[in-house]
Amino acid sequence: MPARPAPADAPLTITLAGETDFEGFRGAARRLIARGVAPDAVAWAVAERDEPGLFGAEAGANEAASNDETPVPSALRVSPAFVALCREVALHRDPARFALMYRLLWRWQREPGLRDDPLDADMARANAMAQVVRRDLHKMKAFVRFREVQQEGGETLHVAWFEPEHHIVEAVAGFFMRRFTGMRWAILTPERCVRWNGEALEFTPGAKKEDAPAADAGEALWLTYYRAIFNPARLKLRAMEKEMPRRYWPNLPEAELIGGLAAHAYERSAGMVEQPPTTPKRRLPDASPRRRIPIAAPFAASTLDPDDADGALEAQRDAAAGCRECPLGALATQTVWGEGPAGSRLMLVGEQPGDQEDLQGRPFVGPAGQLLMRAMTELGWPRDAVYITNAVKHFKYEMRGRRRIHKTPAQKEADACLHWLESEIALVRPSAIVALGATAARQLMGRPVAVTRERGQWLVRGDGTKVLITLHPSALLRMEPDQKEAAYEAWLNDLRRAE
Ligand code: URA
Repeated sequence: MPARPAPADAPLTITLAGETDFEGFRGAARRLIARGVAPDAVAWAVAERDEPGLFGAEAGANEAASNDETPVPSALRVSPAFVALCREVALHRDPARFALMYRLLWRWQREPGLRDDPLDADMARANAMAQVVRRDLHKMKAFVRFREVQQEGGETLHVAWFEPEHHIVEAVAGFFMRRFTGMRWAILTPERCVRWNGEALEFTPGAKKEDAPAADAGEALWLTYYRAIFNPARLKLRAMEKEMPRRYWPNLPEAELIGGLAAHAYERSAGMVEQPPTTPKRRLPDASPRRRIPIAAPFAASTLDPDDADGALEAQRDAAAGCRECPLGALATQTVWGEGPAGSRLMLVGEQPGDQEDLQGRPFVGPAGQLLMRAMTELGWPRDAVYITNAVKHFKYEMRGRRRIHKTPAQKEADACLHWLESEIALVRPSAIVALGATAARQLMGRPVAVTRERGQWLVRGDGTKVLITLHPSALLRMEPDQKEAAYEAWLNDLRRAE
């Protein structure tokens, strides 16, 4: 795109280096204010991206943003909030945005009441532009879907195609860099592409949709998962379209399922009501006398050979399989013991198995587990290098109609299970534990923990092990759709402290 021509009657054109050259705008605007150049006397243009030799190329009335020798005034009257607003407005695709920002800056110097005038047309316009930019940033964070591409040398590159409405690629790149630090990835957009090579972000000119890879096996898996978790009884098409507007659907693999799933939602949910209850196959042996196996002294010692510790964990698991130390064993399909190697640096502790965990006999394999796995993948924590367990080893539920609904374990039930958890800690000997939610935190610390207040903090147990407090993934799943993204980010930040 060539530099936009200035209006014929504008004596001065400032050419910025690119659509997102906020610093160029800022420097030029300060100099213009210092020279007393009124907003009507200046036009703003944007150079074609990466066009060589731009600065200084335009003589006479037209100036490149960096060419002006006027000293930069130190004391412009602006607030940090105004600068933050302008940074967002600058990402809007409206070509008039720089003129609007300069007019506001000019007026800001002369009209002290401007900042507090909610009805001012320029301020209202700027706020509205900033709002749509923020929405675009949010949508890009939520709707980028990577596909795997094998490169020469066997390295995997994750590539996504996205069509933002505004000039947000540079602004959002840091988010993807922090979230997918361990991956090599590229996001292609029509105007700007960004690539992370593991060390630095590289920006290149825009691409075409055909440059992005076709669907891959990972995507097929994601679609299967999406189909599986789609709950027709909870379908709210309007709310869904609000959160996930149709303009993003062409780039969302799951969107192609929505029509079909939604069309059959009514039949499927009627079918669910008609279905007989699922009767889990009980795997618990009959009630047996207490079979608590004390951890032998050498197992608790720090010199324990990891192979012995794995064997000792197995023995504990076998013993727990018949546990009836509280009434929950009588209800559950089976005991769900922890998973992972002895000697894992990190142990994650949840509350208790859910419906899926109870049926499969493994911790964190249901919806909360899927979310936890997503976070662990983003953090670069392989599941098999972490010990994952629960404070309570049996699923507690109540029947609602034909469904088994999770119930929080009573303190007595959790306490009855505590020695199993303590035996896992003694045998795994993690250097850090993450408490997922209040039940885990309470059991690990031996006192009630206010998770929302103490989240993100390291506490220290009596045995000296550090415990990081954070939310349980189910808490995120229960949030309103518009809160989930930010809550997930905050949760990742908590977890990242355990790296
Ligand atoms: N919630 C938990 O606390 N643990 C699981 O294993 C699954 C869901």
